[in-house]
Amino acid sequence: MQDCNQRIETTNTRPESFKIIGTGSCVPEKIVTNDDLTVFLDTSDEWIKTRTGIEQRHICTTETTSDLAVKAAQNALENAHTTVDEIDMILCATISGEYVCPSVAALVQRSLGAQCPCFDLSAACTGWIYLMDTAAAFFARGGIRKMLLIGAEAMSRIVNWHDRSTAVLFGDGAGAAVLEPGDHYLGSSFVTEGNDEVIAIPAKNGITPWYENEQKLPLVHMDGQETYKFAVSNLPKRVDEVLQKAGLQEGDIDWVIPHQANKRIIDSASRRLKHVPADHFCVNLQKYGNTSAASIPLLLDEWNRAGKFKDGDLLVMVAFGGGLSSAACLLRW
Ligand code: ACO
Repeated sequence: MQDCNQRIETTNTRPESFKIIGTGSCVPEKIVTNDDLTVFLDTSDEWIKTRTGIEQRHICTTETTSDLAVKAAQNALENAHTTVDEIDMILCATISGEYVCPSVAALVQRSLGAQCPCFDLSAACTGWIYLMDTAAAFFARGGIRKMLLIGAEAMSRIVNWHDRSTAVLFGDGAGAAVLEPGDHYLGSSFVTEGNDEVIAIPAKNGITPWYENEQKLPLVHMDGQETYKFAVSNLPKRVDEVLQKAGLQEGDIDWVIPHQANKRIIDSASRRLKHVPADHFCVNLQKYGNTSAASIPLLLDEWNRAGKFKDGDLLVMVAFGGGLSSAACLLRW
């Protein structure tokens, strides 16, 4: 009887989700401007700025994806006043790790000297939101003190630098957050429409003598216009859904943290979500381009360090990308 009561008490006091207690980020040193691209691509600063809002991007030279991830993680740990031995799990969202195996998360674990389970999650530009929801599920299960989440990409390694329609869009970087049990994560909404015609990054076939299918270039292939249509219709839908599930209104949102792919896509979402002031849509893509799974945590860290989020602010993170996938989640700061 006594055992039973104890079990019930444990269940009732178990926190349902988490809160973010620190953030960090890192980008490679080398900056490549739009003008730099005109040296080898038939493009212009004017075209890229007008069609996307991007002015420059940071590109890896000697850094690897896990180098960026480690730096972002260290910055987040420092910001969270957390030591490595307090971390019970490391998760990383990426589609451009330097290895298929080991995971970027495992490489971060070794560099930090952590001793905890680690794995990577692959959901392209929507990866960070899948990561947040996965973290919420682990916290709901209980037994985690603190967790380190990282979004890290070296997209420059998988971009086709001969294709002007994709090469101008992407950049490299990493963002991270430290989480502890709490009730600040309020819910999510996800959609996946399985499709390899609109966005695909083929894997390498290796050297098998038996495989008969064509080897597609293991680089980013994207139908820009179809991706654009998917993005502008799905972003506002995911925000509506996640608000509805949480019993909240558009006017309750303090900050929208959208995936940074194209300023025109963000402006379109801003026009649809008219109860949120346009300047409360966070934007930094002019400096970094599309850093895929790193774009939302990079923004999160920039706004956090600038002191723009106030305690209790309601944040909605929303993304779209390969899969095709789109998702939104709600977080109380
Ligand atoms: N410089 C100059 N001209 C260009 C360039 C360039 N870099 N790229 C394309 N063009 C040309 C095209 O060839 C076309 O020329 P044409 O009219 O003579 O045929 C013209 O510009 C217009 O091309 P569109 O594709 O219609 O241009 P659009 O306005 O749609 O912009 C863009 C293209 C920026 C790619 C846009 O469609 C977009 O942002 N799509 C979404 C991409 C995205 O968000 N991807 C993220 C997901 S990726 C992931 O998950 C890994």
